[in-house]
Amino acid sequence: MKIAVLPGDGIGTEIVAEAVRVLDALDLKFEMESALVGGAAYDAHGHPLPEATLKLAKEADAVLFGAVGDWKYDTLDRPLRPEQAILGLRKNLGLFANFRPAICYEQLVNASSLKPELVAGLDILIIRELTGDIYFGQPRGRRTAVDGHFPGAEEAFDTMRYSRPEIERIARVAFEAARKRNKKVTSVDKANVLETFQFWKDVVTEVHKEYPDVELEHMYVDNAAMQLVKKPKAFDVIVTGNMFGDILSDEASMLTGSIGMLPSASLNSSNQGLYEPSHGSAPDIAGKGVANPLATILSAAMMLRFSLNQEEAATRIENAVKKVLAQGLRTPDIWSEGTTKVGTREMGDAVLKAMG
Ligand code: NAD
Ligand code: IPM
Ligand code: MN
Repeated sequence: MKIAVLPGDGIGTEIVAEAVRVLDALDLKFEMESALVGGAAYDAHGHPLPEATLKLAKEADAVLFGAVGDWKYDTLDRPLRPEQAILGLRKNLGLFANFRPAICYEQLVNASSLKPELVAGLDILIIRELTGDIYFGQPRGRRTAVDGHFPGAEEAFDTMRYSRPEIERIARVAFEAARKRNKKVTSVDKANVLETFQFWKDVVTEVHKEYPDVELEHMYVDNAAMQLVKKPKAFDVIVTGNMFGDILSDEASMLTGSIGMLPSASLNSSNQGLYEPSHGSAPDIAGKGVANPLATILSAAMMLRFSLNQEEAATRIENAVKKVLAQGLRTPDIWSEGTTKVGTREMGDAVLKAMG
């Protein structure tokens, strides 16, 4: 089993280091090989996703990814910006299905910005389509407007699009996942305005005929954003497009206490996967040793479960995380009165210790 380790930028290096220590402690036979990605790769090789890094990722059984990006790269030409590395990996590896489970651990009920009773026991799964939508649609660019409100003015444009097979396969992933859970799928769209999402809704409805045992509900994205903070436990599986899924998953992270708690798995059709926290490189806290490593450690657990067939090891890590939270240890993002503030490394140490 080979794992490609791509820490990236900012807190990426700090949090991935802790996940690697946890994986090392398992005493399983895998080989881990690291490579530069994102801004770090741009600085060293002039490209955010060097050929060698892409090759390593393609050949690995799984990829453990930290985060990429920093404000200092925001003025580079788009193809050279760090974010292109993660987008390129998703596209090149065909990682169309992004699982972002939002689970509020019992011990973190007070860390959420919502009232405890709204989030206690929360366990929802956001399934975000990851290789289509306005993220990848062509054409895009800048030009001089020939029509619209200001003909002759400079304008920018992107293309939102989804094909039938793209929607069918992500819908199947969602229905299959719901079958193993509470058998309810909420498909989030903007069918009242966008042709792309009327088509999304129509195709999801057709695929649903294959899953009569699963309940399907449709919800507009604006309402979904509101319902997520009104009554989050009414959801089970949410399936949506690339952009809406990006936004709703960050919103859902606060239901769990912090974005530093939200892991993710991005899978292709052969169950090869990339595992990363749902958050970014957090330049505001990078280098301070205070980032929460748990989303990354929990992503490593998802990697063991989904790509490496090591269910037992995955559960061992998840139980260790729960134990550490029960001990009252908290990085600043999840800290609340009466708990003990620790840094990234100390949190990693505690997880290792809890694993026994
Ligand atoms: P961000 O997720 O990096 O940070 C948002 C806020 O959450 C910040 O206040 C940050 O300190 C906090 N935060 C994030 N992760 C945390 C953790 N583990 N522990 C404690 N606090 C944490 O989003 P942003 O600030 O909008 O973006 C920063 C950079 O990251 C940008 O360049 C962006 O493009 C990039 N980004 C990359 C990825 C990725 O690599 N997959 C994901 C999101 C954003
Ligand atoms: C995420 C990030 C990425 C996205 C960016 C960095 C390209 O926000 O993984 O959620 O928008 O998908
Ligand atoms: Mn995001």
